Parts: sequence; C-alpha cells; structure tokens
Amino acid sequence: MPTTSEYLQGARAAAQAGARVLRQRWGQHLQVHDKQRFDFVTDADLASEKAVLETINRLFPGQAVLSEETPADLAQAQAMQGPLWVVDPLDGTTNYIHGFPHVAVSVALLEGGVPLAGVVLDVTKDEEFAASRGGGAWLGERRLTVADMPAPEKALLLTGFPFRHKQWLDPYMELFRDVFLESAGARRAGSAALDLAYVAAGRGQGFWELGLKPWDMAAGILLAEEAGGVVSDFHGTDQALWRGDIVAACPGLHGWLQGLCARRFPEF
Ligand code: IPD
Ligand code: CA
Ligand code: CA
Repeated sequence: MPTTSEYLQGARAAAQAGARVLRQRWGQHLQVHDKQRFDFVTDADLASEKAVLETINRLFPGQAVLSEETPADLAQAQAMQGPLWVVDPLDGTTNYIHGFPHVAVSVALLEGGVPLAGVVLDVTKDEEFAASRGGGAWLGERRLTVADMPAPEKALLLTGFPFRHKQWLDPYMELFRDVFLESAGARRAGSAALDLAYVAAGRGQGFWELGLKPWDMAAGILLAEEAGGVVSDFHGTDQALWRGDIVAACPGLHGWLQGLCARRFPEF
C-alpha cells in the first residue's frame, strides 16, 4: 500500500497535470455545453480531467476514482472503504469561461470515506495548497493555520450562491443577510475548493455553502481541518462531504456560523 506521503505526491502531480492543460487553454476559444440551466462544462474541463486521471492511473494503477465529469454512482463511492481518488478537474468553470482568474484543480485521496491527502491548485496564481492527515496544511513551504477570532465583527466570510438550486434562494438570502450584518464582509469568488483553501490560509475566517458535491470539497475539507479549522454540515455533524452543505471556520466562529445556517435551513 502506498504511504500517505506517496499519495500526497501523487495528488500534487495529478493536479499539476490538470493545471498545465487549463493554463494552455486559458483565454482561448472554448466549447461550452450546458449540463443543466446555469451549469456548464467546457472542453477544458474534459481535457484537464483526462490529464488528471491519466496521472493517477499511471501512479496508482487500478485505484478507484470519482471525478466530476465521469458519471459514477455517488452512493457506491460513499460506501467505498478502500482508496478513492476524488477529483474536480476545474473548480470555477464559470470563472474560467469568463477569464476571471480564480479557478483550481482539486485532487484528494480518501480512505474509509475520509480524506487522507489533498491538493487544491490555483491555476492562474500557481498557488499550491496541500494537506495530509496529521501532516498539516501547506501553501508551498509555508505551514498554514486558520486565523482564529472570537467574534464575527472583524471577520471575512466566504460563500457560494445556490445557483443550481434556486428554490433555496430565499432562505439563503436571509442567511447571507444574517452573516453580512454581523461580520466585516462576505465574498462569493466562485470556487468552493479555493474558498476552503483560503479559510485554511487565514484569508477568511469561515465558509458556508449548500448543494456542493464531494469533488468540490474533499481536498479543501482536509486543508481546513489540518490548518486547525472546524468543519461540519449545517447541523454540526461530520457528514458535509457527502451531504453537500458545509460550514468550515476558525474554532472561534464555527458555532456562530453553523448556528445561523441551521436556523435558516432547519429542514436540512
Ligand atoms: C462550483 C464552484 C462554485 C460553487 C458551486 C460549484 P464547478 O464548481 O465551486 O464556487 O458555488 O457550487 O459547483 O462547477 O465550477 O466545478
Ligand atoms: Ca466544483
Ligand atoms: Ca468542476
């Protein structure tokens, strides 16, 4: 069995392979297809996925993969106990289409359903956020710790809008209002993987979103936890990765943010 450090090296190589493809195509004409209304996939997502999966298969032949653009049974993936690679070949597709330079490749290795190694690679800024369970979270050579705060007044919060689930818009806007009124600011930058990496790096104190998929979060959750953050779903349990609703924050603010999320989405 490969070691955790070998898995981390593999995740780095795979994310770099995807990022190379995305950089080559940056600013070029893209073929954009609708997956559903307001939700797109481009030929760049597919080319990045190919490069990422080829790297994983070369380094770890035969290991299972759950990757956004390759159809798979999520329940089956969730039940897997052995190694499972969870890949988002392009997080921030809408940003990429518009040339908004905030996009990432996210690669994580799960064992027993828990992230063991993960990388979120910012394609245009070439920032590599990497973490392994028990080995800390890193931005290049710099070890990351969340920027803890006891109260929200000075905090910057990150979020994502529920653009695929417009039925959640009203309670989401109430929740946004709650956070906005009590904190220094809120940002919607368009990449959940980078939002989580930014919480790990102390560039924001918390992140919340709902309707996400495991590939958006697997590497980012590990980064946030290894940097000393607290991660849960809206109701405070450890099921965020598979449920899709997530609150990741510094220890001093997690309870506050999670309480607001639970209040506006009691049915979750
Ligand atoms: C999306 C981004 C976005 C988040 C969406 C995700 P994609 O991923 O992470 O920030 O709000 O929920 O689906 O589709 O660009 O890979
Ligand atoms: Ca994504
Ligand atoms: Ca994607």
